[in-house]
Amino acid sequence: MGAIVSINGRICGEQEAVISVFDHGFLFGDGIYEVVRTYNRQLFLLDRHLRRLRESARMIALEIPHDDASLEKAMREAMAAWTTGPGRDVPAAEVYVRVMVTRGPGDGTYDGASCPDPGVVIIVKALAPRPPAVYDSGVRVVMASLVRNHPGSVNPLIKSNNLLNNALAMREAIRQGAFEAVLKNYRGEIAECSQSNVFVVRRGVATTPALNAGLLAGITREFILDVAEEAGVAVVPGVVQEEDLYAADEAFLTSTTREVVPIVRVDERVIGNGVPGPITRRLLHVYRQKADLMTRSAL
Ligand code: PDD
Repeated sequence: MGAIVSINGRICGEQEAVISVFDHGFLFGDGIYEVVRTYNRQLFLLDRHLRRLRESARMIALEIPHDDASLEKAMREAMAAWTTGPGRDVPAAEVYVRVMVTRGPGDGTYDGASCPDPGVVIIVKALAPRPPAVYDSGVRVVMASLVRNHPGSVNPLIKSNNLLNNALAMREAIRQGAFEAVLKNYRGEIAECSQSNVFVVRRGVATTPALNAGLLAGITREFILDVAEEAGVAVVPGVVQEEDLYAADEAFLTSTTREVVPIVRVDERVIGNGVPGPITRRLLHVYRQKADLMTRSAL
């Protein structure tokens, strides 16, 4: 089933979804994005995603040409077009919504002043459900040979369209048949995965690399930190070394589209008992329960 795209408010199908090759987003990856998903057909944690979008924009001195209400309206229009589009006989399906703000067309120099019109692109498509085995049996990840960007370079806190670091790391995982790639930072500590955050559990306490390790402040990571107490689980940000991952009782990764995924192998090493552990399963359960409740009350 095809995607629906909104380009500066113009809604079109995949074939017509084209932008200028002079857009600095295309030329340099000069732009930012968010990925939001629905539960019960309602956008989940949209306020947090819009806040991070603004923060990313601020960090690259990009002016988003709309306020939050207009962005939300544009997202809803694209979602409505997707739901009612030809061949959409599964209106109950959940969707993936990618919002991108690009620097806009310019003269191809690094002078942002040549790009007076930043562009907003919204992609809506069906959210591909993960096979239940991902959650029931857990996944294998690999340690990437690539290092996560130094925070003094393109700071990983920026959810930037410049995704080469992430894509190259993920390709290492794909080549090895793994679900994700774990990247270390320039200090050799674990930072995050190519498109998700990572947690290790030891003696009942879950630790996730602190933001100063150089990583994206994942919305799912933040939400897990917020609901942990209620879930009866201790979750703290801290330093995570490669050995901590290998010695962990449990490990898991988080992202908007992946939720909470148990990690049971890293390269050829088995983590814990090689099956999803109780803390991981508890956090996945609470996460899904909250997502359902919060989006139901918005219906
Ligand atoms: N990926 N780290 C990186 C590098 C990411 O790209 C992502 C998100 C995360 C998790 O963040 P969140 O919980 O806010 O989704 C961490 C999105 C889903 C993507 O690029 O598709």
